[in-house]
Amino acid sequence: MTQKNFSSNNETLEDTFTHSTQSLNSFARRLLHWFETNGRHDLPWQQHQTDTPNPYIVWLSEVMLQQTQVKTVLPYFARFMDSFPTVQDLAAAEWDTIAEHWAGMGYYARARNLHKGAKQSVDVINETGDYPQTLAGWEAISGVGPSTAGAIMAMGLHKYGVICDGNVKRVLTRWAAIDGDITKSATTKQLWALAERLTPIENSGLFAQAMMDMGATLCVRRSPNCSLCPLKDDCIAHAEGRETDYPVKAKKQPKPSKFSNALIIENTQGEILWLQRPDNGIWGGLWSLPLEFVEKVTANKVAKTLEEQSKKLQVSSNEIVYEAEFTTAEQIINEWLTENTLVAESVSNTLLDDAPIKHSLTHFHWYLQPQKLVIDDARIAELNQKLSAAEIAFKWHSKQKARDSLGLPRAMMKIIEV
Ligand code: ADE
Repeated sequence: MTQKNFSSNNETLEDTFTHSTQSLNSFARRLLHWFETNGRHDLPWQQHQTDTPNPYIVWLSEVMLQQTQVKTVLPYFARFMDSFPTVQDLAAAEWDTIAEHWAGMGYYARARNLHKGAKQSVDVINETGDYPQTLAGWEAISGVGPSTAGAIMAMGLHKYGVICDGNVKRVLTRWAAIDGDITKSATTKQLWALAERLTPIENSGLFAQAMMDMGATLCVRRSPNCSLCPLKDDCIAHAEGRETDYPVKAKKQPKPSKFSNALIIENTQGEILWLQRPDNGIWGGLWSLPLEFVEKVTANKVAKTLEEQSKKLQVSSNEIVYEAEFTTAEQIINEWLTENTLVAESVSNTLLDDAPIKHSLTHFHWYLQPQKLVIDDARIAELNQKLSAAEIAFKWHSKQKARDSLGLPRAMMKIIEV
């Protein structure tokens, strides 16, 4: 069995698949049979055991599961459902409350899109009396891509829907020995075509759940458990002993690093200044200490310069050259510190270790150096006045209160633990 070219001129679609029609036709039956006794049937968002599925539940869980593992999602999902049991509750909620519920799960754009999407779908419900009922209808909802839309159709509405997420891609690239780079659109097309060919018209929701379970429990990234797999007899990667060569993915560029000071500006009551981040950009809508990006360093320079960098970080720069990464509030604070010749002092992580806190995001590693400054009431009043005049959203909260009542990104949690 060799991989054939996808989309040559004189071939039918069936000819483009590596496997025989018999293999293709029996895939779903074998998978569903395995799923019945070996799949997961007790995840709180699953709708396959009810006749009245709830698309909101599937949508919410799929968004949470996009970049977060099941065991991490479980408590977040429970709290979300408790506070926002319906899409109307979510749509009507304040962003701050949603942010606080999402805090710690990362990839906050997911939560912002979910909130926007909730409002959009409430509009659809008010207009039509129900949730969107088509794939295109769901794809028009903010933050819902083709695979999430397919999952909602299949599992949340019990209609026909196809999924092709990371789990499915791993299973299919192995089973059919698809060796194109899965980040390339030609390979994505090929995988979608195969996923569509294999998805049964009836029971596409069960099939979707079964594919996810297969990818999450047997056909795992590092050491797949092929001996229990219902697809092993015609899995090409297995026949070749090359399971872990798939999926093929272009090597990621090493992440660059950035360095910032995180200012702990404290009043005499021990309360700290918190700023709400602008909606666009990093941690949009969440609350953060004022940050000062110090310098950008490329990945290969990090190792050599890290120690040096951590010692060099200064609060007030003499040249005021703001990069796009400074928010308006941070510019105001920086200028005010400079005018008043106020200098914050580095706070050690531990008594022995004054290295900055490392936090990794999607596109870069971030080294955050907490720096503390206590200021008197008169100066606080002056700073408050400047921030209010610029319509900045800010709060003075103790560490405890910030932790309990603001949506704080995980990096901020790390800093206030110091
Ligand atoms: N990963 C993505 N969606 C999932 C689901 N519905 N169940 C388990 N894992 C998943």
